[in-house]
Amino acid sequence: MITSASKELRPAELIQRKRDGEELSPSEITELALAYGRGDVPDYQMAAFCMAVYFRGMTAAETHALTDAFVQSGETVDLSPLGRKVVDKHSTGGVGDKTSIALAPLVAACGVPFAKMSGRGLGHTGGTLDKLESIPGFSVDLEMDAFLRQVQDVGVAIIGQTAELVPADKDLYALRDVTATVDIIPLIASSIMSKKIAGGADAIVLDVKVGDGAFMKTLESARELAEAMRELGLRAGREVVCELTDMDQPLGRAVGNALEIREAVATLRGEGPDDFVELVLGAASHLLALSDLGVDASEGRRRAEAALGDGSALEAYERWIRAQGGDPALEVLPSAPVVRPVAAPGDGYVQAIAATEIGEAALRLGAGRARKGDAIDHAVGLLCLAKRGDRVETGAPLVEVHATTEAAAERAVSEVKDAYRIGSERPDPRPIVLDVIA
Ligand code: URA
Repeated sequence: MITSASKELRPAELIQRKRDGEELSPSEITELALAYGRGDVPDYQMAAFCMAVYFRGMTAAETHALTDAFVQSGETVDLSPLGRKVVDKHSTGGVGDKTSIALAPLVAACGVPFAKMSGRGLGHTGGTLDKLESIPGFSVDLEMDAFLRQVQDVGVAIIGQTAELVPADKDLYALRDVTATVDIIPLIASSIMSKKIAGGADAIVLDVKVGDGAFMKTLESARELAEAMRELGLRAGREVVCELTDMDQPLGRAVGNALEIREAVATLRGEGPDDFVELVLGAASHLLALSDLGVDASEGRRRAEAALGDGSALEAYERWIRAQGGDPALEVLPSAPVVRPVAAPGDGYVQAIAATEIGEAALRLGAGRARKGDAIDHAVGLLCLAKRGDRVETGAPLVEVHATTEAAAERAVSEVKDAYRIGSERPDPRPIVLDVIA
């Protein structure tokens, strides 16, 4: 609700006070964000405000007020008619991150309703919706009542975020994207958490990626972001567990939409790559522990492992994909006409794989979009056959490039070669889950 003070809102004064390091009152933050959402504050003033926040930061009270204002700017989803505790999961974005596609049906197979609204990918990390849209017929545009019905009947739904959900954040995120003000913890935390809060789930697992391919390059900054988001969730009455997970190399092997769907399905068949399986089982154990099943995380993990082993997770995936109009058969997924290996230039251990460079090579192949609205080629991408710590011989395939043309494949081969570092020393093992904040 806008108070009468909003008539006197003076954005320039608020920008100046934030620039000078002053804390703004919650009502000032709320009024500014809501006025921006209504179009009453122009982009140039909001951009200046974000830059002031970039250098001065925000207090917990300011971040909370901003999150609240984002939620108030649009509609919210009421999942209470389901009569169950509903869980959701969010990742801050990584290269090869197809976690939701395996995790959602796995959790549903264990009897826990999973409802998620998702966004599209921008930059070197792909979006869950783009990955799902590589499945012929799959629709991400469900009306709200159909969304709720599907969660009730099938136990799982992932749809695109509607335009009515948190519109002020939608505009502000687009503005931040072009004004170098994305990578600032209070703005990321309020942007992500406003969408999770408006999305209605009771309990949320947040996967905060750490490393070269992520927003947060260090464990300390990832922990700071995780704690800020958890605090916002708790203040809104949601249960939140944060996992800090490794993004210093691509997750699993597949990077690219249809390739990632194949890998998620392989995982549901019990044939996934070790790091990805571990990440999915860890997240499932927390979601089951947060659910109304009344189990702890170790029992949650046992049940999730059983659902991977007995085929019930795969069955839940097939039911889910059919419910949203898609064909779950792998043969119908698009595949690229040109497949080229990248040969190891020498003997040794894979010491590092630059996740950002792999993500950007996949993007240039057409798997992602550099600008909003760019078309995506669902078939193309990369399969990282060798991962950090693997021993390789000269000429052995490090990566498989899936491309539309020979020229695109050739360029990707040389880019990918540069992303791999091979040396005589085996690197120390690094777990996929680096820390859990609960
Ligand atoms: N994802 C979001 O939704 N918002 C941010 O600010 C950053 C990542």
